[in-house]
Amino acid sequence: MEKTFRILRYDPEKDQEAHFQDYKVPYEKGLTVLEGLYYILENLDATLAFRSSCRAAICGSCAMHINGQYRLACRTQVSALNSDLITVRPLSHLTILKDLVVDLKPFFDNYKKIEPYLQPEKAEPAKEFTQSEKERGKIDKLVDCILCAACYGSCPVASTNPKYLGPQALVAALRFINDSRDGKTQERLAIVANDEGIFRCHTIFNCQQVCPKDIDPTNAILKLRGKSFMSKLTGKI
Ligand code: F3S
Repeated sequence: MEKTFRILRYDPEKDQEAHFQDYKVPYEKGLTVLEGLYYILENLDATLAFRSSCRAAICGSCAMHINGQYRLACRTQVSALNSDLITVRPLSHLTILKDLVVDLKPFFDNYKKIEPYLQPEKAEPAKEFTQSEKERGKIDKLVDCILCAACYGSCPVASTNPKYLGPQALVAALRFINDSRDGKTQERLAIVANDEGIFRCHTIFNCQQVCPKDIDPTNAILKLRGKSFMSKLTGKI
């Protein structure tokens, strides 16, 4: 049995515009979309470009648009797509460098804006910062983000406004605000509580639907709105 992989191809050095190219890939139970792409690369067309690394849904490299949804190619079983045609496109609204490889700079530029590292208020302890189980519970799930950019690619607001922080950066902001070891809550709220942050989100829910780690960016943004509202009311930001 074979499956047809229909892949968006684009080489800016050669092509006037992007086009689809079909490849026949032998199918066997357990085949993932990423394995299909590797089959094409190794047996049919060595010019195909795509990103991947861990093959275990941890590195976040292989997010792409597969049969109408943003997914990780490595954890997408071809059988789960219930189709003989597998259509693969790169993440949306990011410049295509080649085929399925996009320029993630706008995504990471927005991520950097939220200062994604711990900034403790207290002096560093001699050994380590400890956290109770309850404190750690407040960042559960939020720390699971693998920066795959599936949410960013799916967000129509990010597609029209590259300055919008986007769902991933906002999840990361909440992750540090909720972290008992961090001491910059108000400064972080000031970074996100504006028209390029939480107030730009139109609550479209695409990010919630596509996250491969089942994080809920829409809910995180609503929580940030609640926190920033209180901070604004009390004049802290
Ligand atoms: Fe975009 Fe998610 Fe808001 S898709 S508009 S960040 S709810």
